Amino acid sequence: MGRATALERLARGDRVTVIGSSEAKGRALLSQAGNPNLRFLRADLSSIAEVERVVADIVEHHDAVDALALFANRVNPKRIETVDGLESSFALYYLSRYLLGSLLSPLLNAAPAPVVINIAGVGNTAGGIIWEDVQLTRKYGQVRAQLQGGRANDLLGVAFAAQAENKARYVLYHPGFTRSGVDGYPNPVIRRVLKLLAAVFARPVPDAVRPIVEWIDHPPPDPLSAIDRGKPVDKSLKTLNRADAMRLAAYTEDLLHRLRRPGSPDR
Ligand SMILES: NC(=O)c1ccc[n+]([C@@H]2O[C@H](COP(=O)([O-])OP(=O)(O)OC[C@H]3O[C@@H](n4cnc5c(N)ncnc54)[C@H](OP(=O)(O)O)[C@@H]3O)[C@@H](O)[C@H]2O)c1
Repeated sequence: MGRATALERLARGDRVTVIGSSEAKGRALLSQAGNPNLRFLRADLSSIAEVERVVADIVEHHDAVDALALFANRVNPKRIETVDGLESSFALYYLSRYLLGSLLSPLLNAAPAPVVINIAGVGNTAGGIIWEDVQLTRKYGQVRAQLQGGRANDLLGVAFAAQAENKARYVLYHPGFTRSGVDGYPNPVIRRVLKLLAAVFARPVPDAVRPIVEWIDHPPPDPLSAIDRGKPVDKSLKTLNRADAMRLAAYTEDLLHRLRRPGSPDR
C-alpha cells in the first residue's frame, strides 16, 4: 500500500521519500518510478536510532512535510527483541510511528495543510494494551502483538490530536482486507492460504489506498478522523479512550527517556 501511494503521489507531482528495510525493494521501486522526485531511505524502523537517522536526513533535505503516511509493519510468529531490547511489533508498528510523528512535527507544522495518515486497524475492538507487560515478555503471540500494536496506534492518534501545538490533521485508517502484505508472512503455508483468500475476498490495492491519496490533497477538517473501510468510526469507542491515550503516551515518553539515558537498565 505504501508503494502504491508513493507512485500515485509521484504521478501528481509530489516529492516523495519512501522508507523501507529492503534495499532491493527500494531499488526496484526507484527503477519502476524512474522519477527524480522519489527518494528511498533504507532503514530498520524498529530501531530508535534508525528512525532518528531518517528524520535527520529528511530535516536536511526539506523545509516542510505536507504528509506523513505510516504503513510499516511486520508479523513475527516468535517474539523478537530489537536492538533497543523492545518487542519488535511494539517497536515497529507503534513506536516508530510515535517517533516519526513527534520528531517530524516541526516540519509538519511548517506545511500549509499537513496531514498524518496512520494505516492500521481502527474500528477493530479486539485486543488492547497489555499494561502489565507491554513488551510481551511472558505470553507472546503474533495475533496478541498485532492487536496490541493496532490498539496502540488508535491511542497514538488520540494523543497526537489532543496536542494543540500539532497543526497536522491525524487520520486513523483501516483499509480492510487488502491484496497486499501477504508476501511478508514468514510461514509458506499461511502465505499460500492468505494469497488464495486474498485473491477472492481482499480489496485491490488501488481501492484501499485511494482515500489516503486524496487526504494528502484534502486533509479532513477535524484534528482526528477515524475511518474503517470508508465509514467513520464512533470516537466514543473504548479503543479511542483519551485517558488510555494519555497513559500510553506517558509510558512511551518514560520508556524513551530511560532508553536514551546511557547505561540505564531499560523497561
Ligand atoms: N493488507 C491488509 O489486509 C491490511 C488490513 C488492515 C490493516 N493493514 C495494515 O496496513 C499497513 C500496510 O499493510 P500492507 O498490506 O501494505 O503491508 P506490507 O505490504 O507488508 O507493507 C509493510 C511495509 O513495511 C515495511 N517494513 C517492514 N519492516 C520494516 C522495518 N523494520 N523497517 C522499515 N520498514 C519496514 C516493508 O518494507 P521492507 O520489506 O522494505 O522493509 C513493507 O513495505 C500495515 O500496518 C498493516 O497492518 C493491512
